[in-house]
Amino acid sequence: MAIYLDNAATSHPKPESVYRAVMHAMREIGASPGRGGHRRSLEAGRLLLQAREAIAALFSIPDSSRIIMTHSATEALNLALRGVLVHGDHVVTTSMEHNSLMRPLAALRASGVEVTVVRGDGTGMVDPADVRRALRPATRMIALAHISNVCGAIQAIDSMGAIAREAGVLFLLDAAQSAGSEPIDVKRTGIDLLAAPGHKGLYGPQGTGFLYVSPAVPLKPLLQGGTGSSSTAEEQPLTLPEGFEAGTHNLPGIAGLKAGVEFVLEQGVAVIGDKERRLVTLAAERLAELPDVTLYGPSDPALRGSVLSFTVAGTDPAALAFMLDHSHDIAVRAGLHCAPQAHRTLGTFPGGALRMSPGWFSTGEEIAIFCDAVVECCRP
Ligand code: ALA
Repeated sequence: MAIYLDNAATSHPKPESVYRAVMHAMREIGASPGRGGHRRSLEAGRLLLQAREAIAALFSIPDSSRIIMTHSATEALNLALRGVLVHGDHVVTTSMEHNSLMRPLAALRASGVEVTVVRGDGTGMVDPADVRRALRPATRMIALAHISNVCGAIQAIDSMGAIAREAGVLFLLDAAQSAGSEPIDVKRTGIDLLAAPGHKGLYGPQGTGFLYVSPAVPLKPLLQGGTGSSSTAEEQPLTLPEGFEAGTHNLPGIAGLKAGVEFVLEQGVAVIGDKERRLVTLAAERLAELPDVTLYGPSDPALRGSVLSFTVAGTDPAALAFMLDHSHDIAVRAGLHCAPQAHRTLGTFPGGALRMSPGWFSTGEEIAIFCDAVVECCRP
């Protein structure tokens, strides 16, 4: 039985409705939104609007035109950072971030943006008081991941949002591991910029993502090109959302994302999150019984998303992942998970860890088989 436990990288399988929606967009619609006055193009435009509306409903976003479709969370984060920050600005972030946030910040450092990295504790949790202490008069933004892709630590985003609001700075949330499995309400939490992939907990295809931008954010586009609007203007129109979506949309991907978000709305975010938490807890409890295993991340299940990383003394995580794949047909991810500072924080740099991440379609039986396979692979 093939077992897929790498949903933190991309979710698999997708709901049947997602596969159908992708094919429908390709076969039955075919055209692109805003690129023609014919009925197919209008239908494509309606589908794009419905996708934005579904995302808006999921995250309590009051105006769906403030949702910019991107090709990934990485593109959304680049837009949120490079489209806002300028020379002299200061950003507070954390040591638990993925390279999708760390690398654009590194590039911005070279153009005069200052960055303070607040360190998480040994379980990956970041203390909001440390974030508050890192604020300066020049601070423009607090930017962090909701859930660590390495150890699953769920950060206290309501407190971070309140700190940002009090200080009058922007709050950028990277929801790569939380969108679809943790409740997010942009207004209640005071999120100014919400970046998310479409292909993880929202069950869309790869090549999809979005950035929500609140009215408080003066955003510059990263790309210039055709928008299907204001065609006489030589300069890029700054109208949301199309001014920030230059070039032809990934309509099949967006159609799949719409179906994925509708699936999440039907199941309910809390139900999905609870199921995934039960599965991760099951694995954590079983693996904790093994003498040579070290688990990373918070031990309280309420503080952990659907990600569990561990090491086995004397076993290379990459070798273990290889054995699980080749001998047991189980897909997991080993290594540094594109988040080297997070691994430094947890004490797993440079060797990394082995990460398992169940999704909505994972089962308790699969978790049991996975744990048995780990025991078998590590047997001397
Ligand atoms: N960010 C994704 C992961 O953690 C790709 O695997």
